[in-house]
Amino acid sequence: MTTTRRLLVAALLGAAAFAGQAAAQAFPTQQITMVIPFAPGGPTDVVGRLLAEVMGRDLGQPVVVQNVGGAGGTIGVHRVVQARPDGHTILYTNIGIATQPTLYRRLPYNPLTDLEPFGLVTPTPMIISVRPNFPGTTLADFLAYARERRDGVNLANAGLGSASQLCGTLLQAQLGINFTTVSFTGSGPIFPQLIAGNLDVYCDQTTSSLPFVREGRIRGLAMATRERLPQAPDIPTTAEAGLPGFEVSIWHGMYAPRGTPRPVIERLNRALRVAIQDPTVVARLNDLASPPEPLERVTPEAHRAFLEAEINRWRPVLQAAGQYAD
Ligand code: MLT
Repeated sequence: MTTTRRLLVAALLGAAAFAGQAAAQAFPTQQITMVIPFAPGGPTDVVGRLLAEVMGRDLGQPVVVQNVGGAGGTIGVHRVVQARPDGHTILYTNIGIATQPTLYRRLPYNPLTDLEPFGLVTPTPMIISVRPNFPGTTLADFLAYARERRDGVNLANAGLGSASQLCGTLLQAQLGINFTTVSFTGSGPIFPQLIAGNLDVYCDQTTSSLPFVREGRIRGLAMATRERLPQAPDIPTTAEAGLPGFEVSIWHGMYAPRGTPRPVIERLNRALRVAIQDPTVVARLNDLASPPEPLERVTPEAHRAFLEAEINRWRPVLQAAGQYAD
């Protein structure tokens, strides 16, 4: 390279770095849109709104939730992938982002290269619940019913590529039964149908199911956890209730589009760390059995490494189940 070209490249790199820093110093200059790739009222929405409020206070601009449901969350994720990478559009979503690359063989994005993860948020246990008028009160009752009715059992999920779909897939694989699955755009629209008795069973996160179980509007049969939860001590674990080894925990994270300047990512990460340490947020998350992640996991680096490990972890499991979107 000639000296003139070298000077030109150095000048261009310097200008790009300066532009990134200037953008970060000014950031945010307008309201931030937090895309939730599921319908209102579900676990992602409930926790996303909690975080959005505190992050907005910390950032000095409102963080406004936009629900973009459909196709198991992939439509909302794609919306963020395509957004301007300036930090004013972010994504809050769950483990589904790690199952979608296997389930969708023509997925229009790669979570690892098209997004900038900026922090893990909360691990959430799953609970198996049935409609309130289900003829039985225990998981053993449900298992007997399921073995007799097989595809006559209606299992809800929030679409192929959602957390509930993953849990339902694992449940069916463990039982060796294919239920009739009914897909929605999120957990929010599922609950009225489950409460009304139009669906039989749902495996969902405690953050949305637990309040309905506590109110007696749905029947929580088993927690897919190793130990009973102090937040719901009367609900047995899956192992206690007849499904040994069936443990499912869901994780969540926040993302910006690829190309968002590093200083902006760091600012968003700081706001997220403030939010997950906020006493009101901590109390609410703990009450819903979904505590904040330890701070060492709330970094872009830890999140990216975990995302990659999770994509690799679920690929063979889902390939064995053989369910694809195309
Ligand atoms: C899921 O199954 O991924 C979630 O329950 C969807 C939602 O947050 O509504």
